[in-house]
Amino acid sequence: MSSTSSGVLTSSQARADSIKAYFDSITDDLLASLPVAEGLSAAERRGIIARYSAVLEGNFIYWMTGAYLAAKSEEARATILENLHEEVRDCHPGMMRKFALAAHAQPNTADAMAVYPNLSNVRLFIGKLSPAPIVAMMAFFEGFIQRFMPYLEELAEKQGSAERVYTQVHGVCDIAHSQELYHALDAEMALANDSREPAEYLFEGVHLLRALIESMFTDPASASA
Ligand SMILES: [Fe+2]
Repeated sequence: MSSTSSGVLTSSQARADSIKAYFDSITDDLLASLPVAEGLSAAERRGIIARYSAVLEGNFIYWMTGAYLAAKSEEARATILENLHEEVRDCHPGMMRKFALAAHAQPNTADAMAVYPNLSNVRLFIGKLSPAPIVAMMAFFEGFIQRFMPYLEELAEKQGSAERVYTQVHGVCDIAHSQELYHALDAEMALANDSREPAEYLFEGVHLLRALIESMFTDPASASA
C-alpha cells in the first residue's frame, strides 16, 4: 500500500470514527432522557411501547428500501439488500406486532397521532433519496435500536409479557448491521466526494429521526399538561 492510499484510509477511518462517536452521543442523550421504568404507570409503559411500534412496524423496511434506492455504491447496496432480506424473510413487522400485543401495547389512534408530525418529516426526508444522508440515518437508527432493546424489554416485562423475540433479535443482530452500515456510509461518502464537513450535509435525517424518537418517548398527556 502506498503511503498516499494508507493516508487516505487513515483519514477515512478517523472520519467514520468521529461520525459514529457523534451518533453514539445522540443515543446516549436519548437513553438518558428516558424515565426510570420502575417509576412509570402501566399506561405510560404501554404508551412508549405502542408509539415505538407505531413507528417501527410499518416504516423500518420502507426506510431501508429508500436507502437501497438511493445508494450508489455496490458495498452499500449489498449491505442494505442483506438487511432487507432478513427483515422480510424473518417477518420483523410481525415480530414487532407480536411483541406489542403480548405487552398489551398495540398502537391506537392517539399513539399514531402523537408521532405523526415527526414521522411525516422523516418520510419526506427519505423521499429525497439523498444517498449518504439516508445511509447515515439508518446507521444511527440501527445503533439506537440495539441499545434501546433492554429498556423496551424491561417495559414489556413490567406489562406482564414474556415475549422477547423482537428484543433479542434486535439487541444482538443489529450490532453487526450497524457496523456494516458504517462501512456502507463510508462507501457512499467516498462516492459523494463532498468537500464540506459531514455536519454540513450528512445529518438532516439523523436529526429528524432524533426528534421522532423523542416523540416516541414523550407521553402526549403529560406533554400537553
Ligand atoms: Fe428488524
